[in-house]
Amino acid sequence: MNYKDIFANELYHVIENKVAYETILNRIEKPSQESYGDFAFPCFDLAKIMRRSPQQIASELAPKLEHPAFERCESVGAYLNVYLKKRQASSEIISDVLESGYEFGRSNHGNNGKVPIDMSSPNIAKPFSMGHLRSTVIGNSLALLLEKIGCEPIRINHLGDWGTQFGKLIAAYLKWGDEEKVRQNTIKELLALYIKFHEEAEKDANLEDEGRRWFKRLEDGDKQAVKLWEWFREESLKEFNRIYELMDISFDSTNGEAFYNDKMDRVVQLLSDKELLKESEGALVVEMDDDNLPPCLIKKKDGATLYATRDLAAALYRYETYGFSQSLYVVGNEQSLHFKQLIEVLKKLDFDFAENMHHISFGMMLKDGKKMSTRKGKVVLLEEVLEEAIQLAKVNIETKNPSLLNKDVIAKQVGVGAVLFHDLKNDRRNDIDFSLESMLRVEGETGPYVQYTNARACSILRKGQYTKGDVSGVEDEKAWPIVMLLNAFPETVQRAAREFDPSIVAKYLIDLSRSFNKYYSHVRILDEENMKQGRLDLVASVSIVLTEGLRLLGIHAPQEM
Ligand code: ARG
Repeated sequence: MNYKDIFANELYHVIENKVAYETILNRIEKPSQESYGDFAFPCFDLAKIMRRSPQQIASELAPKLEHPAFERCESVGAYLNVYLKKRQASSEIISDVLESGYEFGRSNHGNNGKVPIDMSSPNIAKPFSMGHLRSTVIGNSLALLLEKIGCEPIRINHLGDWGTQFGKLIAAYLKWGDEEKVRQNTIKELLALYIKFHEEAEKDANLEDEGRRWFKRLEDGDKQAVKLWEWFREESLKEFNRIYELMDISFDSTNGEAFYNDKMDRVVQLLSDKELLKESEGALVVEMDDDNLPPCLIKKKDGATLYATRDLAAALYRYETYGFSQSLYVVGNEQSLHFKQLIEVLKKLDFDFAENMHHISFGMMLKDGKKMSTRKGKVVLLEEVLEEAIQLAKVNIETKNPSLLNKDVIAKQVGVGAVLFHDLKNDRRNDIDFSLESMLRVEGETGPYVQYTNARACSILRKGQYTKGDVSGVEDEKAWPIVMLLNAFPETVQRAAREFDPSIVAKYLIDLSRSFNKYYSHVRILDEENMKQGRLDLVASVSIVLTEGLRLLGIHAPQEM
């Protein structure tokens, strides 16, 4: 059992179950100063229930809190401070990490519940944007975190592969397209065709009609139209896959919007049976005044379905296919309104599962304080960014460690890791500023810093020819903050998964790295023979937790760099 749990449990019994266990657990703090012990519990909340002042309560409870793991418990003002038996606790915590290995921190809070995660979801024939990158990276980390706490994540790439724009694209391609060019540079060429279509349409009003006709043909299954659409989709996916490969990310499903074409009639029928559909200027909408939301558009005047219609069908499909415990949508915050509408419409249809659907929103990636645009010439931007990061990492290796083996593999792990860590270290809801230079720094709150700390730990283990034996715990006082951080890893993972917030793990890894580097600079780990084994056990535990923590963010941890 985790030491924080032990404390919560003791306290729970001592106050005779007057406060829920979870509440107690959540209130336990890390004391503001080391001299105040290892855990602190503020008694303010107990005052009402126990009808005494919090100070009085703290001093009454302190002597009653006894446990073989506690050295003592003191009251300071309204706080209960617990001091652990360091030697014993460190040996138990380190044993636990070493025995569990990379399984350390695994739990089954998720009860094997299935969790579809709608992530990445770029639009075919359009550039892969920074928003899609963020969705991919955050979604993947959430999948890894949820898996660690016993859920079964299902990564879904809900490709934007349907809509009237594909009629326009087909029309444009047939007029001006060049097969070979499209094959070689699909997204750039298709985007150019799309832009040209709009320019020409300004001059020639017939073009719009032509586009609409092609979309109609596509919907009706016209051979030529379908064949072109399939080709655009396939070639676009090839380009996207290059990005996914760079990041080592794969999907369980690439059912995009088009997959729901034959599943929307049912949704429209359900809405109409419940008398939820209203006509508005020829279109069909669900009015949402009572939710303080604008109406949700279900069918256009010409009978065409919309983004929302497809998402309604997809939500139902996912529920029926997976019987999910939760269903996540990792999509930028500019789509908040859409997801609010989606969830509310499903509630109007009395689908209880709508309660378990969550829009995991995130902010924008900015460059010099401005939105990063991927329009026109800047098409391949994203792949370039990743490639450039890898290139810079390679240059660093060449100067610092030219004899390193597998330079290319490690440069990729460091370069991509830098971009991913930078994305994940901040609260996802905030906008973040993009700067390759700062994300690749080996000092500061970066991926390479954590990776470097781990590589340093691995190098000490190699030098000390470490093998695991009986774990006796570490004696140095200076190791204690590290031990307490190791102890906090499982709850950190759980919190990150529960709050859908990978930054909790990223920040934890920075803390652990800092703490370890401080130790490393004060203690000569390999110098004292009688202390060596215990210290190396600590170093090995740190490396396990750093490696596993980075894995949960989708980042590799090279053993040398
Ligand atoms: N393709 C959309 C876009 O790029 C994102 C799709 C998000 N997922 C969803 N189920 N709506 O804006």
